[in-house]
Amino acid sequence: MRADAEALRAELEAAGGSVNAGTIVPEALAVRGVGDPSVLDVVASGRASPQDEASQAVAEAVVGAVLRARGEDGHSVVVDLAAAPGGKACAIAERLPGRSMIVAADIAQQRLRWVTDAIARLDLTNVVVLCSDGSRLGLRDGVADAVLVDAPCSGLGVLRRRPESRWRIEQGDLGAMAERQRALLVEGARVLRHGGTLVYSVCTLSDEETLDIDSWLAREHGELEAIRIVDAPWRDHGRGSLLLPTDAGTDGMYVLALQKSTAIPAGTLG
Ligand SMILES: C[S@@+](CC[C@H](N)C(=O)[O-])C[C@H]1O[C@@H](n2cnc3c(N)ncnc32)[C@H](O)[C@@H]1O
Repeated sequence: MRADAEALRAELEAAGGSVNAGTIVPEALAVRGVGDPSVLDVVASGRASPQDEASQAVAEAVVGAVLRARGEDGHSVVVDLAAAPGGKACAIAERLPGRSMIVAADIAQQRLRWVTDAIARLDLTNVVVLCSDGSRLGLRDGVADAVLVDAPCSGLGVLRRRPESRWRIEQGDLGAMAERQRALLVEGARVLRHGGTLVYSVCTLSDEETLDIDSWLAREHGELEAIRIVDAPWRDHGRGSLLLPTDAGTDGMYVLALQKSTAIPAGTLG
């Protein structure tokens, strides 16, 4: 909100960085050779945020869904029910129109400190932080125009940055991951208004956490209709989309967007 990409590019280059335009997000800058980005003045002063481009694309897709539904002047409520450390929630907050707001929830109180730090660094006034199990949010039905379920996952899409995580994940862990992901999605669907958009994303590539989640949603949540919110180089993967690290030099990421039917379920009217 407080800088434009060209001014940042000049400043980062003056700091010795090699800067290129992003490949999948128009406003992104791909920066190399600056060391730890968190100590750069452009970051510390809230004019830039280090974030993988695949994550930026997910945040942009959520904002796109809100703008399509409510327009530039609309008021909207977004719920991010697994928000820490706050990368996507803050990226969304910076772009939300009018007097919109985002609820940034996470179960881990310690991790929420990173969210509040980011809010202060970016001087955001439209983020509400909520420490809660995302599968049991204390929010009423249908309150959200958009819900992001950026779920805890096996993280196999970020092995280039965290190669050691391959030793932490066992094949048998994937079933438990998928169970947590389904619980978050059920709650996300509950707090989403009719006509709103639910975005499920995971930085992993396993079938259990992508295609199988998609099939389960198709089977159990007929009120949620899949919509496309990203284009090439994302590849079709079931009703969702997959971005491989080899496609655009980003983390591996899966995203599935679903629009909740506008039909009011039978039995809910007076
Ligand atoms: C992939 S990270 C989220 C990254 C974040 N969206 C971002 O862009 O910075 C997953 C998060 O889910 C949280 N989490 C795990 N189980 C949860 C639950 N039942 N309810 C809410 N959050 C949960 C973890 O604490 C972790 O912060």
